[in-house]
Amino acid sequence: MEESNRMKRLSRYLFSIIDDMKKEARKNGLDIIDLGMGNPDKPAPQHVVDELCDRARMPNNHGYSRSIDKVECDLRQAIAEWYRKKFDVKLDPDTEIVPLIGSKEGIAHLSLAFLNNDDVALVPNPAYPVHFNGVLIAGGILHNLPLKEENGFLPVLEDIPEKMLKKSKLMFLSYPHNPTAAIAPPAFMKKAVEFARKHRIILANDLTYSDIVFDGHKIPSILSIPGAREVAIEFHTLSKSYNMAGWRIGFVVGNADILRSLSKLKGYIDFGLFKPIQYAAIKALSGPQGCVKQQVALYKRRRDVLVDALKKIGWDVPKPKATFYIWARIPDKYSALTSMEFVSLLIKEAGVAIAPGTGFGEYGEGYVRFALVEEEDRLIEAAKRIKKVLEMEA
Ligand SMILES: Cc1ncc(COP(=O)(O)O)c(C=O)c1O
Repeated sequence: MEESNRMKRLSRYLFSIIDDMKKEARKNGLDIIDLGMGNPDKPAPQHVVDELCDRARMPNNHGYSRSIDKVECDLRQAIAEWYRKKFDVKLDPDTEIVPLIGSKEGIAHLSLAFLNNDDVALVPNPAYPVHFNGVLIAGGILHNLPLKEENGFLPVLEDIPEKMLKKSKLMFLSYPHNPTAAIAPPAFMKKAVEFARKHRIILANDLTYSDIVFDGHKIPSILSIPGAREVAIEFHTLSKSYNMAGWRIGFVVGNADILRSLSKLKGYIDFGLFKPIQYAAIKALSGPQGCVKQQVALYKRRRDVLVDALKKIGWDVPKPKATFYIWARIPDKYSALTSMEFVSLLIKEAGVAIAPGTGFGEYGEGYVRFALVEEEDRLIEAAKRIKKVLEMEA
């Protein structure tokens, strides 16, 4: 059977290639320190797990979920309250909030809801892959916005050709940024909102890492910028802040017209979230937030441990201000390798799995990404093993 043309536009998913490499290395008896995927290693908070279990035992929580059901209304209300407390932004729970089966689902469907074949989406590169793959699946035209180190990994909006701009309908931004770990100054976000308003472009801001921020930095909501609500929506997830990645729950907030179209599309495709997960999400968002603080403190310690350990072995990498990633240039000794080749070498020779920069787009070439999802002793061990590869005789 021949797959559709839209499927032919997609290259093989990065993590499945790396999974194959890890499988092969494990078959050869290697212990793999896995810093490849941004998959939190800790469980969800106990009070959230308890709520899920209690609600799952109730027979009336097993049916389809509808947006008019009480639990879904309560969830939207809890999200609105969380938003008010965290960002000082007021949202209408009925029109400006849509729960998602993980933010990845909503991001992919956004492109499907808005892009026709000739419509352009402006997507930073490197990026979390669904930002660009969603555009390709929808049949839209992708225009990369290169994120370069010398520009603080921010896109240069002035560089977008007028011809592309005329056909542009959608733009993605996401700071704190995966994979570069960059954060955006408020002035840039303001400029992006003005840009989107001027050119009538939907501005989709992916705020997955708004909680995972170190050293006193604070990330505002794009919706706190005057005029943003005319064009902007903002994605969130419980995957990282509350270690609920496998639960599949996120949400999107902002411009009511954009969200109405997204909900319309979703109405034909899914039946919302398992009700016990919604109840548990309410507990997570409205309960004590100490668990989030603890998680951030843990990532900060791991960040310091790994950055210091890499420095000791002669690999100087920047200390990120946010996210649980470290974005590092491939060491000089191996700079002739592609990021995929270098990652393959580290898996085979050191049993350390990290992500190649090109898994996030071609402008990620020359870099690799570490995810801080193993314990401190394993991070130190990873650096020791990498040292051997860096010291290998020619
Ligand atoms: C920037 C970004 N957006 C979205 C997601 C997906 O989150 P979710 O688990 O809610 O689908 C991730 C996951 O790594 C991410 O890094």
